[in-house]
Formats: sequence, structure tokens, C-alpha cells
Amino acid sequence: MALMGAVGRADWRHVLETTPHPRGLRADGFSADPFYKCLVAEVPAELACRGQTIVGYAMYFFTYTAWKGRALYLEDLYVMDECRGKGIGGEFLRRIAEIAIQNKCSSLQFVVLNENRPSIEFYIAKGADDMTKAEGWHLFRFEREQLEGLAGGKPPPEQLPLDITGAPGTPFPPISREKF
Ligand SMILES: CC(C)(COP(=O)(O)OP(=O)(O)OC[C@H]1O[C@@H](n2cnc3c(N)ncnc32)[C@H](O)[C@@H]1OP(=O)(O)O)[C@@H](O)C(=O)NCCC(=O)NCCS
Repeated sequence: MALMGAVGRADWRHVLETTPHPRGLRADGFSADPFYKCLVAEVPAELACRGQTIVGYAMYFFTYTAWKGRALYLEDLYVMDECRGKGIGGEFLRRIAEIAIQNKCSSLQFVVLNENRPSIEFYIAKGADDMTKAEGWHLFRFEREQLEGLAGGKPPPEQLPLDITGAPGTPFPPISREKF
């Protein structure tokens, strides 16, 4: 797969940290109803990095915010070390912005680790707002084990009768209190 080639052997950790298995990466991104979308950057053979002509990728998906509607979430942006500083990251961002606008998104969202100063500076130089600084957002996560605990938990016995249902056509079965 092209994006795996871009990462190369030395940098496999970067992808492996974000996905359980390459087969999952392939199935989730390249099936009929993909979970994520991906752009790759390709250079001519004479400019190959470590033998790779695919030298970077941008992984994204569409999301939605209650306040602002459609949004594009940039899950990962990566350019191989040797190819950085040549404008490839900036061009990825420009293409991602085009895709967001074409799809009527109100914003482009992403997170960056606090210690990743070069990337933070890269995004700020491109005009991104630091929403942690501006509005104090915290990033939260339930890991799989906690998720299973949540999903398997029992509601308190004295609950009001309650049905939680999806809109017609929602691919999830309605969850009824009576089933607990
Ligand atoms: C962030 C990243 C995608 C930028 O890609 P890039 O191809 O170097 O981006 P560009 O060449 O378009 O621009 C880089 C800018 O940052 C500076 N820069 C940052 N890292 C650099 C590096 N290692 N070498 C050279 N310049 C660098 C350049 O001066 C340039 O500034 P300019 O636009 O004023 O000239 C790339 O550094 C990367 O893959 N980092 C590791 C993965 C990562 O942390 N991704 C972000 C996670 S959300």
C-alpha cells in the first residue's frame, strides 16, 4: 500500500501506533464505505527518498460539530524526513483545504502533541488557531477496555422509562432501557 511505502521501515512505528494492523488500515481506508480517506504525495524516481517515490500522506475524514456543522478532521499528515522543507506539507494542507471547501465544511480540525513544536509552528505559520489556548478545550478518550466497560454497564435501577433511538435508516439498532 502506497502510504505504508511512504513511511518506510525505519518509521513504521508512526503508522503502527495509529492502527492495529496493516490489514485493518487497508480495509478501513479502501473499502466501499471507508472510515478514512487518504492523499499521498508522489515524486519522480530521481527524487525518491530511501527508494520510495511516495514520500508522504495525509489521512482525513469528515466529521460534524453541533455548533458549526460539517468539518474535516485531519488525522495525520506526514512527510518523510528527507523530503521536508520543500513545500510538500504545505501543498497537502492546501489540497485538504480545497477538499474541505468543496464539501462545504466550516472548519479543518486536528490535534498535535504539545512536544511536537515544529509541527505546531508549521500549522500556526499557515494560520491555524490553537483552540486549547483560545478556548481551553481538553482532548478526552475512552480506550477500548473502558469502552467495553461503558457499553456493558447497567443503568441505575430507578431510571425513568427511556428509549434512545436513531433516525430512520441509522445503521445501529435502537437501544431501549427494557433490554437491560
Ligand atoms: C509537519 C510536516 C508535515 C511538514 O511537512 P513539510 O513538507 O516539511 O512542510 P513544508 O515544506 O510545506 O513547510 C515546512 C515549514 O516548516 C519548516 N520546517 C519544519 N520542519 C522542517 C524540516 N524538518 N526541514 C525543513 N523545514 C522544516 C520550514 O521552514 C517550512 O516553513 P516555510 O513554509 O515558512 O518555508 C512534516 O514536518 C512532518 O511530516 N512532520 C512529522 C509528522 C508530524 O508531526 N505531523 C503532524 C502531526 S499532526
